[in-house]
Amino acid sequence: MADAPQTDPRPRVELRGISKHFGEGERRVDALAGIDLTVRAGEMIGLRGPSGSGKSTLLNVVGCVSEPSAGWMRLDGDVVYDARWLRHDLRRLRLMKIGFIFQTHNLLPFLNATENVAEAMELAGMSSRQARTRADGLLDYLEVGHRRHAYPGEMSGGEAQRVAIARALANGPRIILADEPTAPLDSARAHVVLDLLGRIARDHEAAVLVVTHDESIFQRFDRLISLRDGRLVATEEIGRAAGLAAEASLPTP
Ligand SMILES: Nc1ncnc2c1ncn2[C@@H]1O[C@H](COP(=O)(O)OP(=O)(O)OP(=O)(O)O)[C@@H](O)[C@H]1O
Ligand SMILES: [Mg+2]
Repeated sequence: MADAPQTDPRPRVELRGISKHFGEGERRVDALAGIDLTVRAGEMIGLRGPSGSGKSTLLNVVGCVSEPSAGWMRLDGDVVYDARWLRHDLRRLRLMKIGFIFQTHNLLPFLNATENVAEAMELAGMSSRQARTRADGLLDYLEVGHRRHAYPGEMSGGEAQRVAIARALANGPRIILADEPTAPLDSARAHVVLDLLGRIARDHEAAVLVVTHDESIFQRFDRLISLRDGRLVATEEIGRAAGLAAEASLPTP
């Protein structure tokens, strides 16, 4: 039996009592109501729940796009929110630590695959030449290197999604957030994307959080978390974690 991969056991995401409401008075909506959650390096978590249960809001809070209303949040070892933002450089934090993957890719139509990925690195200060070399390496890693010269309008849905994942990985993020990344893909392509995200979690020691309604991929996660009315109502240990635990308990020959 192969050795278990050595992953950094430190949490990448820690949330304590995170709440978020929109509006005030009669119009107030409690989108998140006291979320406690820890996601470790190498873990891939599925997030499910009915429409309006707070899934996207949770990703936006973890991604430092949306400000919580209360609670405490630590990302990659740094406390970034404690009843207020503790960091003034949230844009840079997002650029360097967080990779976003959306339901429909957010590639720039006038840049080819290499340029789309390289642009994110250039924003972080890398030279254009170095960024392009690294971008091509990432496209190869995601098995879409043969499409490096293609523009988004010339790619299939699955290809565009893999280029978008390469872009999300550009600056080596510790936290990868994906909001229904497989929704526009057929089942086979959805599984390819999930395989890639699982591999990224391990290879890059990243925490990966994936919002999904797709029951056919629920078994691919380490944990499946259910949200309802802004609360975490259930956590299932499944897929890879349960598989590893079962493997670990087998008698060694
Ligand atoms: N910018 C906003 N202003 C006001 N209310 C908002 C805003 N964003 C979200 N909400 C509300 O917060 C609640 C949670 O929304 P959220 O988008 O997180 O749900 P979701 O679980 O992602 O749903 P879906 O599965 O439909 O994408 C909903 O009641 C929604 O209407
Ligand atoms: Mg949503």
